[in-house]
Formats: sequence, C-alpha cells, structure tokens
Amino acid sequence: MFDLHPKEHRNELFGRDSELEYLLEQLLAGNWVVVGGQREIGKTSLVKVAIRELKEKHGFKGAYVNLRGVRSLNALLTSLIPEMNSSRVKLDLSFNVNFIMGSAGIQVKRDAKAVSSLNELLNSVHEDFVIALDEVQELSQASKQFLDILGNVFSSNSRVRFLFTGSYIGVTRILIDPPSTSPLHGRPPVILNLRPFNDNTSRVFLRKGMREIGVDFNGEEEVVRRLDGVVGWLTLFGNFYAVRKKGLEEALNFAESEGKKIMIGEFEHFLENKNNKIVYTTLMDVIKVATKWRDIKRGIEIGIGGIDDKQLSSALDSLVSNNFIEKVGRGEYRIIDPLLRKIDYSKILKSRL
Ligand SMILES: Nc1ncnc2c1ncn2[C@@H]1O[C@H](COP(=O)(O)OP(=O)(O)OP(=O)(O)O)[C@@H](O)[C@H]1O
Ligand SMILES: [Mg+2]
Repeated sequence: MFDLHPKEHRNELFGRDSELEYLLEQLLAGNWVVVGGQREIGKTSLVKVAIRELKEKHGFKGAYVNLRGVRSLNALLTSLIPEMNSSRVKLDLSFNVNFIMGSAGIQVKRDAKAVSSLNELLNSVHEDFVIALDEVQELSQASKQFLDILGNVFSSNSRVRFLFTGSYIGVTRILIDPPSTSPLHGRPPVILNLRPFNDNTSRVFLRKGMREIGVDFNGEEEVVRRLDGVVGWLTLFGNFYAVRKKGLEEALNFAESEGKKIMIGEFEHFLENKNNKIVYTTLMDVIKVATKWRDIKRGIEIGIGGIDDKQLSSALDSLVSNNFIEKVGRGEYRIIDPLLRKIDYSKILKSRL
C-alpha cells in the first residue's frame, strides 16, 4: 500500500473498484476515456491497472506511454513503437509505406513523416488494442495535428482505444471539448474525474497499509485531518512513518512539505500562459478564508481593486477545471486539497517577477 510507485495490480489498488469497473466497461464498449483529477490522486495507477486487466482478462494488447517530456509527434512515435513491438501487436501493413519490418518488430523508415506514420501505424492495428497516453497535456504544442490523427483513428479503426490522463490543461481540454473544425468534434471521450477518498476510506487505507507491514498505529484521525483523502499524500506519509520508521509528526511534516512542493509547481505551470496572474494568486489566497461569491469578490477588490463579474467568473471556472478549487454549491467555492491551503500564493507571484 505504501509503495511510492504507481500501483499496477488490481489487488494493490485501494478504494477504486467502482472507478476501475466503469473505466473497463467504457473501454470495452469502444469509448475513449480521459482520466482527470488533481496531482497524486491516483490517475496513473488506475490506468496501469486497467491496461493489465484488459490484457489479462479481455485479450487486449496494451501500450502505456508517459508523455512527460514528449513534446512532438515524432517523439510520440518513437516512444510508441517499442511498446507496440514488445507487446507484439498484430498489424496489417500490407500497403505499408512508412515502416520496415524486421525480426524484432517494426521500425520507421528514415525519411518517414510522423503524422503519416502515426496514421498508418494506428490504422493498421488488427486486434483490440488500448493505448494509454499519460500526461497528455504535454503534447499541446502538436495539438492540431494530434487531434487530426486521433479523429482519423477514431473513425477508421474501432479496435484502437485511447485512454488519456492529465489535468485539464491544454490538450485535455481540447479533447473534452474539441473545436468544431476538429475531426473529434461530436465524439467526445468519456470523462472520469478522480476525487479524494472520503475520511472513512482514508482511515481504512492507512490501517490496511500499516497492518500489511505489521505496524501498530492509531493516528489516523490526525493524518486525515492534515492530509485529507489525496491518496498520494497518504501514501507518502505511510511510507515515511511505517517503512522509513519516522515519528508521526516528522512523517506528516514531510508529506506536507513534499506535497506542497508538487502543488506549487503545478500552480506555477498553470500560471505560465495567464496574463492576469495576480487575479489567480489573489483568488487562491482569498478562497482559503472566503467561500461565497460575494465575499470572494470583496476579497479581490480589497487585494487588487475592481474586477468585473465576467472576469471573476471565468477565473473561477478555470481554477475549477484545473482542479485547484471545487464548486460546492451555487456561487460557493472551496479549496479541496489541504496542502493547497498551505501555500502563500502572493509569494509565488513575487518569486516569478
Ligand atoms: N488506489 C490506490 N491505492 C493505493 N495506492 C495508490 C492508489 N492510487 C495511487 N496510489 C499511490 O499514490 C501515489 C500517486 O499515485 P499515481 O502516480 O497513480 O497518481 P497520479 O494522479 O498519476 O499522480 P501525478 O499527478 O503525480 O501523475 C503513488 O505513490 C501510488 O502508489
Ligand atoms: Mg501520473
């Protein structure tokens, strides 16, 4: 339970039975799926377990490609081919133009173009095949051509299913709501947004993990109060406390500070292409203490002067769709992850100027 790597087996995946069933059901029915959710909520683990289940129980072939650092379609092709070769995906390349076939599988011809090769490769797949693209927002620079390829594959080869993960930045949003000119328009993938565990599930997770390594523990209340139900933070805590044998307070502080670093990085990344950064940083600082629209607006006015309703509402929407805050009722917003409350957002802005 407290192993820090993404989980890969169904019996290691805690508390996600219904999400896993739903995901498998959708993929088996031929739908494509986007698994969304905040950092460290368990997206990669769910996807890896789903691929394994499809392979072992449903006769699928599967490929998992982590797109972190993969910025071009050429790089995507280069990461995909060895995955397909090692899982021996059946291909029908009788009209092949872009590939050389050898004993170890296929290879791209030297002068082949990425777009044409990807189209040819995916359309030649001749058995049920699921491709997971993790961190799909990384491909945003290639988004138009990428969407064209996806649209083409979707309409010509129903044996290929894509499974995407990512926060809602960049391409993920384009996937969910493709522009009307995109071939994916009208064929939206299913969205599965992972949420934190509730308090009880979090406590059971901690207890189960402790029991697994034979550690006596009764600090669940305190841990859940401080870290809430984000499985990655709970795992980090469990690993520090039970595996590395640190004290309760030290392990909690560690989980908090590591988590905070990740979330600061995430927020900075979110701010990168925003030109009204101060609106977002002030909003996050305000929502730590105010949840109602009226109070939030007042907080912003005190912090940076006036803001019109339209601008405020679009900034709030953007924070919601990037999983930094949650809409809890009409005109009411909340920061979900307790670690996000511990960040001083005005400092982030200062350190960037
Ligand atoms: N359902 C689960 N049961 C047990 N442990 C889990 C579960 N989901 C995730 N974990 C653990 O939580 C941590 C984060 O998981 P994972 O990498 O799958 O999340 P993620 O959402 O992909 O994170 P990131 O945003 O960093 O890519 C890992 O240590 C993993 O082992
Ligand atoms: Mg991940």
